[in-house]
Amino acid sequence: MNTFDFKNPTHIFFGKDSIQEIAGQIPEDAKILLLYGGGNIKKNGIYQQVTTALKGRDVIEFGGIPANPEYAVLLQALGLIKAQKIDYLLAVGGGSVIDGTKFLSAAALYEGAEPWDILKKNIRTLKGLPFGTVLTLPATGSEMNSGAVITRKETQEKLAMGGPGLFPQFSILDPQVIQSIPERQLANGITDAFSHVLEQYMTYPIGAALQDRFAESIMQTLIEVAPKVLKDPTDYVAASNFMWSCTMALNGLIQKGVPTDWAVHAIGHELTAMYGIDHARTLAIIAPSHYRFNFDDKKEKLAQYATRVWNITEGSLEEKAQKAIDKTEDFFHSLNIATRLSEYTSNYEGTAEKIAQNFTERGWVALGEHKTLTPDKVEKIVRMSY
Ligand code: NZQ
Ligand code: ZN
Repeated sequence: MNTFDFKNPTHIFFGKDSIQEIAGQIPEDAKILLLYGGGNIKKNGIYQQVTTALKGRDVIEFGGIPANPEYAVLLQALGLIKAQKIDYLLAVGGGSVIDGTKFLSAAALYEGAEPWDILKKNIRTLKGLPFGTVLTLPATGSEMNSGAVITRKETQEKLAMGGPGLFPQFSILDPQVIQSIPERQLANGITDAFSHVLEQYMTYPIGAALQDRFAESIMQTLIEVAPKVLKDPTDYVAASNFMWSCTMALNGLIQKGVPTDWAVHAIGHELTAMYGIDHARTLAIIAPSHYRFNFDDKKEKLAQYATRVWNITEGSLEEKAQKAIDKTEDFFHSLNIATRLSEYTSNYEGTAEKIAQNFTERGWVALGEHKTLTPDKVEKIVRMSY
């Protein structure tokens, strides 16, 4: 097992009607900015619960943060934070609203002239404006980690940022919120969380027995609850297990002491920036080709995953590993998630070259757990995913 340090300061409130807990978590005298997305919280009762909990407090609102949080929109919110001297942010939404809030938390205290530099120059945030979250969509794990991904349409960029100053102070996880989530977004959530585990697991054995079992148990739980959640989002037991699995998939725990990959996400973000494809779907497009292309590097873990997660016990190590990739792709299909780029856009020619070029220009020339995934290999993986 590799050496590691681990600190996760986010206070989680999990369970039915836990939204009311926000009242006790935000300082009485705070000037709060309540941030949300396209307005679904006003249709499903979540907005009502939040405003009831914040009754009598000094609250201003900023709505309209789009899926794949857009830099230009966030700059408007940043102006409001500065003009109104906001000192506490409350994100009410999915990964996009939470990530947008993390960017604002960093940008509000950033002293440079151009806030995009936080992303472009990968400036880690050691201290941000304090914020909490009310999670409305289990998927990204953003509610209990310190990372964010921001999109800039103008330049077709989608870049990550983070740092120890960007953990939410608290996050409210009420599994009842999934009742109003459309099937497409539920499927996205399952796929994204599953992919997060794969990025931190599908590398090479390092003797981290407990982390492997944590990772496998999250994947097993997601596989088990996926059909239940899609069939009936009011099934509270399934919803709870789904929500907690998504949080645990990316709160730092399973990545400690083990090598991680993250190339699927790096490539997937490009597909969202270029074509607007939902984040989770880009991962389902890239992952199978990535594992087939890097088969020799990953076959031991693929075979372990085959046996422990998919109960594939017959065949050689290579055969099990191959079957595991097929099973993963079948799982995405079972969620109605297409796994070929050509199923999302007819305009895919040249995508592989463009992504390889972007990576070269950014100096992303050594991705993956072995730091050997060069842009020419990325190009081949993307082409295999057409
Ligand atoms: O805009 P609103 O009205 O909130 O509607 C949203 C949006 O249309 C809707 N929704 C959310 N909760 C709902 C609901 N609809 C009905 N009922 C509810 N309870 O769902 C749509 C998608 O929301 P979004 O927040 O975009 O989805 P998700 O949580 O999947 O977040 C995706 C973003 O997170 C980033 C992705 O790149 C993408 O930008 N990621 C963030 C990560 C992180 N911070 O750790 C890691 C991930 O790998 C990922 O990159
Ligand atoms: Zn993801």
